[in-house]
Amino acid sequence: MVIGVPREIKNHEYRVGLLPVHAHALRQAGHRVLVQRDAGAGSGAGDGDYREAGATMVGSAREVYARAGMIVKVKEPQPSEFRQLRPKQVVFTYFHFAASRALVEAAIKTRIVAIAYETVQAADGSLPLLVPMSEIAGRMAVHEGAKYLEEPFKGRGLLLAGVPGVAPAKVVIIGGGIVGAHAAKMAAGLGADVMILDVSLPRLRYLDDVMPKNITTLMSNAYNIRDATLQADLLIGAVLVAGAKAPVLVSEDLVRQMKRGAVIVDVAIDQGGSIATSRPTTHGAPTYIKHGVVHYCVTNMPGAVARTSTSALTNATFPYVLEIANKGWRRAAEEDAAIRSGLNVVEGDIAFGKIAEQFRLPLREP
Ligand SMILES: NC(=O)c1ccc[n+]([C@@H]2O[C@H](COP(=O)([O-])OP(=O)(O)OC[C@H]3O[C@@H](n4cnc5c(N)ncnc54)[C@H](O)[C@@H]3O)[C@@H](O)[C@H]2O)c1
Repeated sequence: MVIGVPREIKNHEYRVGLLPVHAHALRQAGHRVLVQRDAGAGSGAGDGDYREAGATMVGSAREVYARAGMIVKVKEPQPSEFRQLRPKQVVFTYFHFAASRALVEAAIKTRIVAIAYETVQAADGSLPLLVPMSEIAGRMAVHEGAKYLEEPFKGRGLLLAGVPGVAPAKVVIIGGGIVGAHAAKMAAGLGADVMILDVSLPRLRYLDDVMPKNITTLMSNAYNIRDATLQADLLIGAVLVAGAKAPVLVSEDLVRQMKRGAVIVDVAIDQGGSIATSRPTTHGAPTYIKHGVVHYCVTNMPGAVARTSTSALTNATFPYVLEIANKGWRRAAEEDAAIRSGLNVVEGDIAFGKIAEQFRLPLREP
């Protein structure tokens, strides 16, 4: 199969669908890999590295789309990319169809086979192609929070770790899933005083078992959230209710009562945010101040650390890329339930129940 890797064109997107190491493995398996010039530059992979790994570099995205049987990307195709897609072409990337009817209609119209990273589901119910980005966003939340606690950024002028004789900062994390656990680990490692709230008792038990001693677990309810928020120097929003908008757990009135110069990092902003005063921001202008509290609400946090993110993402996606390339999408989907669950729109039909339901369009499983 010919596998094509175009350069990402979404604003501030530096990741790439495949790295030279994957081009090499695909070549060894008998496939051809076409990579658009400069596609890997933002992730530290030069054209020479791809060439050495056996890929063919091409000058334009148009050529990639015209020649490849499968396109491997990171972000959903943009309008100019949709115009280049061809019927029956496999497109393996993040689509997030639930967020855009226009995207669903474009995928139907082009009759592509859209396999979405975000719905590939493992046998244990986990979403293996979402996990790496949550791991990164969770860890980054603490970096960013620590930075914006500094005085020049209008923060409280606190060192997260404290020093001997001076207390560390208080970090409160609402949601103890992947993002929350990784944020907690980072903050605890720095020596902060960490509290993590979740509604799931089994999850709190697990966190209590595996986390270091400077982390306290607490049942998430309105009373405890209020109490913890008022103590927080850094508040991290990390909740998820699968398939739904994030619940707003911290009211505007509560934000108004927070310490001046405290920092909110609302990682759940990509699902609407879990703090009433959150609104989406970008890497270009990541923060704003509301009621004296610094808000960081970047919707694509991993994009800023593209070298790490591309490696983490492709570690998870590549086994599926290889399987689809080796077997073709139809056999791969027949034999592997995870790939089957990634089928969203197939040759003009919606193949994913929740999307059909949401947009009231007919469902036709292939
Ligand atoms: N901004 C970004 O760049 C970025 C990157 C990755 C993930 N995210 C987002 O981060 C959020 C968390 O993702 P995740 O992978 O950790 O999800 P997850 O499913 O692993 O964890 C979510 C946790 O929230 C808990 N929860 C649900 N309702 C709660 C409540 N009322 N109070 C406290 N806890 C509650 C759940 O029990 C679960 O443990 C999601 O919205 C995800 O989309 C954002």
